[in-house]
Amino acid sequence: MKRRTFVLGATAAVAAAAVWWARPGDNGAPYDAYFRALNAELKKNGPMRPCLVIDMDRLDRNIDRVATTLRGAGKHYRIVEKSLPSQKLIEYIAARAGTQRLMSFHQPFLNLDAELFPGFDLLMGKPLPVRSAQQFYQQLKGGFDPSRQLQWLIDTPQRLHEYLQLARGLNTRLRANIEIDVGLHRGGVGDNAVLEQMLQTIAAHPQHLEFAGFMGYDAHVGMGVPSILGTAPELLAKAMARYQGYVDFLRSAHAGLWREDLTLNAGGSPSYKLHGAEKLSSEISTGTALLKPTHYDIDTLAEHEPAAFIATPVIKKNGPIQIPALDGKSKLFSWWDPNQRETYFVYGGWWLADYESPKGLQFNEIFGHSANQEIVNASPTVGLGVDDHVFLRPQISESVLLQFGDLVMMRAGKIVDYWPVFNA
Ligand SMILES: Cc1ncc(COP(=O)(O)O)c(C=O)c1O
Repeated sequence: MKRRTFVLGATAAVAAAAVWWARPGDNGAPYDAYFRALNAELKKNGPMRPCLVIDMDRLDRNIDRVATTLRGAGKHYRIVEKSLPSQKLIEYIAARAGTQRLMSFHQPFLNLDAELFPGFDLLMGKPLPVRSAQQFYQQLKGGFDPSRQLQWLIDTPQRLHEYLQLARGLNTRLRANIEIDVGLHRGGVGDNAVLEQMLQTIAAHPQHLEFAGFMGYDAHVGMGVPSILGTAPELLAKAMARYQGYVDFLRSAHAGLWREDLTLNAGGSPSYKLHGAEKLSSEISTGTALLKPTHYDIDTLAEHEPAAFIATPVIKKNGPIQIPALDGKSKLFSWWDPNQRETYFVYGGWWLADYESPKGLQFNEIFGHSANQEIVNASPTVGLGVDDHVFLRPQISESVLLQFGDLVMMRAGKIVDYWPVFNA
């Protein structure tokens, strides 16, 4: 053999070995004991369509984590309604955590809250257009008294004037909570000059406006900011220094508006735990941490347990992937990738969610999405059959929880109840 031929042959063999070595491994694994039990229960007693399962044992522990931290810090807990949008779920959390404070973000839900929780204090989590606020009053039913129990969130002097006109028109007094920017930069008051204008307006119209407090949301603490720009405790310290600046200004420039029982709201799921160490805020809003969807797999929520899953039955099990129009040539894919040697089509799909169990399930980009029958590829190791369930974790809880009808409430692996979600 010529030397050149030998070198070429050896190079080709090394290249082939390298390509073979780079082949995807088998990522599949069957259900663990937890999901095996959930699947068995859902197959026996479940709805056999896509459903949102809540693990109440895990939910309980997550509620207790939040309640214990905030109680220990002498703070009130405010439930975030948009992240837990179900009457029974909110009632359950309120009773277990011992709170009657709720944060709302959507006018139709606000009307529901006022009707369903007539004894609660409601704080808006975003400023609503004034016509939307007006519709709240037009649709209000029951004994809820907004002049005592509702805090509108006001972000600008302009909006405050609009709400003042609304109060005049309704011949009532509105409680105004001022949104302050503590570093998230999602709006709200950013300096004392603007705050001064707003406090002056409130102070000048006591029949129509009452100052209820501040709301400073700090989602950037614990999430979304690269740690090189600041650790979560550093970012919280900066946020609370800004918060303190607004409170100091209020107390020095408008002492008449200061009351010990003002609502000084802060928080969010990513930061609630860190708030246990600061003394300024009077209450913390948290919702998503109780269910821990995948976007909340963050350091500050390390102790929290995922408590919400989408479960959907496998409708079809078709063997190695076949791509339309490629037909038999598709074999290349399953030859190359063991995770494409099984193809499932599930009931529904295309949710804001990540595959959870069995391990090693994957979407097929070439085949594409379907909200009717979504494709799921895996290796045969996952061991799924028709009518078994694929489990996903929502990425966020708001909006996703509303997509499946009644929540399937489970305890110790058994279905114990069905809880309707808000419908508005
Ligand atoms: C004003 C405000 N407070 C608190 C929260 C925290 O909600 P969660 O704990 O569900 O993330 C949010 C979420 O968007 C918010 O906008």
